[in-house]
Amino acid sequence: MADERIVDQQTHAQEDPIERSLRPQLLADYIGQTAVKHQLSVYIQAAKKREEALDHVLLYGPPGLGKTTLALVIANELGVHIRSTSGPAIEKPGDLVALLNELQAGDVLFIDEIHRLPKIVEEMLYSAMEDFYIDIVVGQGPTAHPVHFPLPPFTLVGATTRAGMLSAPLRDRFGITAHMAYYTPEELTQIVQRTAGIFNMSLPLESAQALALRSRGTPRIANRLLKRIRDFADVAEADTVTVALVDHALDQLQVDERGLDQIDRKLLMMMIRDYDGGPVGLATIAANIGEETATIEEMYEPYLLQIGFLKRTPRGRMVTPAGFAHLDMPYLTKK
Ligand SMILES: Nc1ncnc2c1ncn2[C@@H]1O[C@H](COP(=O)(O)OP(=O)(O)O)[C@@H](O)[C@H]1O
Ligand SMILES: [Mg+2]
Repeated sequence: MADERIVDQQTHAQEDPIERSLRPQLLADYIGQTAVKHQLSVYIQAAKKREEALDHVLLYGPPGLGKTTLALVIANELGVHIRSTSGPAIEKPGDLVALLNELQAGDVLFIDEIHRLPKIVEEMLYSAMEDFYIDIVVGQGPTAHPVHFPLPPFTLVGATTRAGMLSAPLRDRFGITAHMAYYTPEELTQIVQRTAGIFNMSLPLESAQALALRSRGTPRIANRLLKRIRDFADVAEADTVTVALVDHALDQLQVDERGLDQIDRKLLMMMIRDYDGGPVGLATIAANIGEETATIEEMYEPYLLQIGFLKRTPRGRMVTPAGFAHLDMPYLTKK
């Protein structure tokens, strides 16, 4: 457990083949996100009917909620190729030109972490997205001249954990914007049951439900915990994953009954002990627990806000009475 985090950011490059095998391929297999799925299914059908490229899609929400998976599903449903990259990987205009150059009509270009595109590349994307062309400068010095480079109609699918960090001109060029929400325990139950099926594990309903409740509303975390539970089951030579086994494994992993890990608890405890629960600024929180501000803002805080253990105020973050109670700390009303 030392080097493995329950909550993390995962990029394409790090993806292991098991993770890939768990991804649903079609909208029908994609569990939850009902509103997003419904919206997309209408637009996908319409685009196919008109034989046009689907409008550009922006997917945003916390890590592990299925953005990359959904991008693949969109391409599958459209029956087109997908090329995947990420904002930081496109360092210069030439990189973008190379990517765009390989697209065929209707293809999907998936840019993960699109909020991290270099400005100069982002600006080139505007005309590519809007009118399917780019202007590039060819040659150097006195022979340099602009070349107008038409592109096939394509669909840009962008994913970001930080919609607020996209510039307005970029955001405005997405015709379809989908906010990914945390999954309900019922949806996560279905997801871990599906994963257990792929792993050939016997996971009774109550065990799936117990795991779902401790997975922070996040499929990636649910699947990751299930893999660890499978290890515990194998070592114990258990044929069936009982609720007791789930509880035992998650206790060992220091995931508590609300799905919080050590860092979540450390964060809340620090705010309570050192700042009477806040308000505390984000940078101060980060410095005190030795994490990056972005990590806290993108990975830890959203779930703590969602379950009502933290709240945002103009003067900083505050631990709520529910947060105090979760850590068995007395809540003192402040004057
Ligand atoms: N709706 C879903 N149904 C089933 N499994 C899902 C769903 N969404 C995500 N997953 C699983 O969770 C994991 C993380 O999803 P991913 O698309 O990589 O998230 P993100 O790109 O938002 O960080 C994937 O391996 C996938 O198997
Ligand atoms: Mg992703």
